[in-house]
Amino acid sequence: MLGTAYRRLTDLRNKLLARPVPLYPDFGFGRGWPIDRHYIEGFLKAHAADIRGEVLEAAAQPNYTKQFGGDRVTRGHIMYPVPGLPGGTMVGNLETGEGIPTAAYDCVLLTQVLQFIYDMPAAVANSHRALKDGGVMLATFAGISQIAKSDMNAWGEYWRITDAGARRLFGDVFGPANVEVQAFGNCLAACAFLNGMVISDLEPADLDYNDPEFQLIIAVRAVKRETA
Ligand SMILES: C[S@@+](CC[C@H](N)C(=O)[O-])C[C@H]1O[C@@H](n2cnc3c(N)ncnc32)[C@H](O)[C@@H]1O
Repeated sequence: MLGTAYRRLTDLRNKLLARPVPLYPDFGFGRGWPIDRHYIEGFLKAHAADIRGEVLEAAAQPNYTKQFGGDRVTRGHIMYPVPGLPGGTMVGNLETGEGIPTAAYDCVLLTQVLQFIYDMPAAVANSHRALKDGGVMLATFAGISQIAKSDMNAWGEYWRITDAGARRLFGDVFGPANVEVQAFGNCLAACAFLNGMVISDLEPADLDYNDPEFQLIIAVRAVKRETA
């Protein structure tokens, strides 16, 4: 497994040494599905049973409520912090709490959202408030990534986080016993991702080799327990 990874890394290094810009721009959109989505979607697949009942998801695309929740979902709510965006069914601001109801959801799904919110602890607290007792928050963040230019322009992109940071951030609100954190990625996957290479450019074994010193995606499952 490592042999393949190192051979690919050598090929990649030879391509990269001559250039300060990525091989392909904009996460590789247009060529295929970006590498971070391998980890985000693998995490959601593993926790698909949590996506059920009333689900709050930030942003209409890719609509993971539908993709992973299927028939378990009674109602999916697509939230944006501003009105008028395509596919939005409600306006809510996780940072200020404006428009976010209390104890309303069985699942809050925030993939690649919290790094765009300056006051991350407030956003986690408002997400916790929005959950029913026993409800689950599934969240992912970028650990290693280029900037998402359109989101940076729209909301600001403020943070990168580690598994240790996520454990404290969510543990402070949900209680440490109610929080599971995973980190995904490795050096090869990170180099490829930063260069706009896509999932189909790498072997599954290269993507799935996990090196905690190269955290490309951090994923959190946190359960609201009123007695925590
Ligand atoms: C990169 S998109 C993530 C979209 C989608 N969840 C995904 O997996 O690609 C970042 C999203 O963060 C949301 N966002 C930014 N600031 C927010 C805030 N204060 N409250 C709620 N959502 C916010 C925006 O609506 C934006 O669509």
